[in-house]
Amino acid sequence: MNQQLKQDLHSYPQILGAVEQNAETFLNNLEEWPTAVAPPQLPLADLPAQSAGALAALHEFQQRFGSLMVASTGPRYWGFVTGGTTPAALAGDWLTSLYDQNTQSASQTGDVSAIVEFEALQLLRQLLNLPAHFFGGFVTGATMSNFTCLAVARQWYGQERGVDIAEAGVFALKDLKVLAAQAHSCVYKDLAMLGLGRSSLHKVKLLPNNREAMDVADLEAQLIALNGEPCIVCASGGTVNTVDFDDMQAIAALKAKYNFWWHIDAAFGGFAACSPQYAHLLKGWEQADSIAVDLHKWLNVPYDSAVVLIQEKHLNLQLNTFQNAHAAYLGDPKANFNYLNFLPENSRRMRALPAWMSLMAYGQEGYRDIVERNIACAQWLGSLIEGSDVFQLLAPVRLNCVCFTLKDQPQEKVSQFLSTLVARGVVYMTPTVYLGQASIRAALVNWQTTETDVEMAWGEMNEVISEILAPI
Ligand SMILES: Cc1ncc(COP(=O)(O)O)c(C=O)c1O
Repeated sequence: MNQQLKQDLHSYPQILGAVEQNAETFLNNLEEWPTAVAPPQLPLADLPAQSAGALAALHEFQQRFGSLMVASTGPRYWGFVTGGTTPAALAGDWLTSLYDQNTQSASQTGDVSAIVEFEALQLLRQLLNLPAHFFGGFVTGATMSNFTCLAVARQWYGQERGVDIAEAGVFALKDLKVLAAQAHSCVYKDLAMLGLGRSSLHKVKLLPNNREAMDVADLEAQLIALNGEPCIVCASGGTVNTVDFDDMQAIAALKAKYNFWWHIDAAFGGFAACSPQYAHLLKGWEQADSIAVDLHKWLNVPYDSAVVLIQEKHLNLQLNTFQNAHAAYLGDPKANFNYLNFLPENSRRMRALPAWMSLMAYGQEGYRDIVERNIACAQWLGSLIEGSDVFQLLAPVRLNCVCFTLKDQPQEKVSQFLSTLVARGVVYMTPTVYLGQASIRAALVNWQTTETDVEMAWGEMNEVISEILAPI
């Protein structure tokens, strides 16, 4: 064995101790840690010829990158839809690396880490009030979850047309339509990756009054026009700008009349189900064929984590879609369940453990508190904006996102305001375009966010706006 590796083998206490020290410094200072840094011009390092060991590599990382890490896991990182990491989830993530299982099967002698995945899925279904007939698995994020669900939907579509698409390929498909109103950008990417093409998505009209939810009457008209031909309906369980929800009950009623696969992208909005106050937004979603839920958002586990939830009755379609070619060393896919025949990836880390740990640690009560507190904070920020002379709220705060702009100011001022705000490093928000105008989104999904953070952010927003609107 290489001398340095041998030395590291006997230095775990020092190496892990140094990492713990690193973690303590970061976590103890997270409140003040900047939410953004200016990207430095760092030359890329060369591969060392000699072995220097783990502590030297850690030192190098801390020197060059440590202070450049941003507080994306902190309470005022409101960009994109970025969750933090609960203490239990962090512990679970570290253990995932420690054990380094390749999560596959739960039925053969050998690795049994899939049981952790089955249990995590059960805990999640119970949190989200979904029936046990949703079978699932862990993937890296909602993009991959939507991809996986739509891949099985594609297989279902082929079956309806008498074609095994997994065997024959997409060439055998004609006229596949995906009907959606305000699909997330990643759905278009998924359709491209699936060989269906972005143009397979046909827009359903939106409801009037600047809503981002689908007009179900228009959806029905498009279904009638298909004259019994199958299609895929992709519903939104929370849009990114205004967190609008498609009417799940109305779509469920259409499912009884028309022939479609119903998929829901509930990447973060699915967590409304944790709260009796907001669960009505998803009423009827349990009748969908497939649902995508991101866990590195509102569950507050580290990246990369999301689940695919597909009705168990479609298990054969899922197997047909993702089955490996027969390989003796992988066993018989029909005789023994193995995740590598049900999801896009073959080898996978024990991705479910952080979620398992966090769900076990905080349960129904803990998650309901996170979700309701985030929503209350977002609503408060929304009401401050609504009462202001300089900011303009662009949509009601339906859940956890605040979408706003500057009153009577040109687009450049909105960009200047946002870049100045972000550069100060106290609160992070991201730009968007809503109703054709330059706008800003604040998405609150962090377990640590409190009213104090809203106060701090509001203070910052007002300082920045006074600065940029001050007469020169
Ligand atoms: C509604 C929705 N769908 C899909 C995604 C993509 O998620 P990911 O980046 O985890 O792949 C997001 C991300 O914000 C989202 O909000």
